[in-house]
Amino acid sequence: MEIDFWLERWDKNETGFHQQAVNPYLRLFYGQKGPAVEQREKLKVFVPLCGKSKDMLWLSQNNYRVFGVECSEKAIKDFFEENALNYKFAKKDQHALYMAGDMDNTRLAPIDVFQGDFFALQKHDLDDITDIFDRAALIALPQDMRERYAKKMAELQKPGIRTLLVTLSYDQSDMNGPPFSVSEENVYDLYSNDFSIEKLCFKEIIDDQPGFKGRGLNSLVETVYKLVRQ
Ligand SMILES: C[S@@+](CC[C@H](N)C(=O)[O-])C[C@H]1O[C@@H](n2cnc3c(N)ncnc32)[C@H](O)[C@@H]1O
Repeated sequence: MEIDFWLERWDKNETGFHQQAVNPYLRLFYGQKGPAVEQREKLKVFVPLCGKSKDMLWLSQNNYRVFGVECSEKAIKDFFEENALNYKFAKKDQHALYMAGDMDNTRLAPIDVFQGDFFALQKHDLDDITDIFDRAALIALPQDMRERYAKKMAELQKPGIRTLLVTLSYDQSDMNGPPFSVSEENVYDLYSNDFSIEKLCFKEIIDDQPGFKGRGLNSLVETVYKLVRQ
């Protein structure tokens, strides 16, 4: 799943991973069970491999600052344009930074999106990050890339940074990824050296996923973890 694969998905509008609704676990753990609204402006949430996720808009509307990273220029422009957000653009070395929220979008906390390769991020890019929301990022990658991704995550993060990680698991012999099946064992293998891991909840969701039933799955379990960098 190299970058060209994803750029082609965006060019051909093959973006079945994109959800029109805000992720329910985001609403639960950053909303209802999350910090009080007035405490959130101190928090900044990194959304890796962000696509044009509505989750970034929800975070910003709910007082969290947002930093996304995404390789596709089209995805980023679609995000700002489809949500009617004015944005500024700055070229930075090989990359570009798109910024919204501090202009006339007065009800929004700032949203910055870095256009480039996640693996090119540097530690200082995550300097003021307090939280990470990983939905469809880790599971978008095959095993060898998941190992690189988890190592890079450990390298980029300061102790104390919290991640809400949403995974899917299913019988990998029934379907090719992405999304890839990421078992609990795999999560521990990837993260337990550098992170504390707490399993928050899990749910069988196959009956709500006719698309995945059509691709041959009989079971699809969504699991949510809280990781904290040690
Ligand atoms: C499965 S999609 C998930 C998007 C988003 N998290 C969501 O929930 O809708 C994975 C996204 O990661 C982007 N991507 C894949 N590899 C990347 C990389 N190395 N650096 C930056 N973005 C990447 C793709 O363009 C795609 O938008």
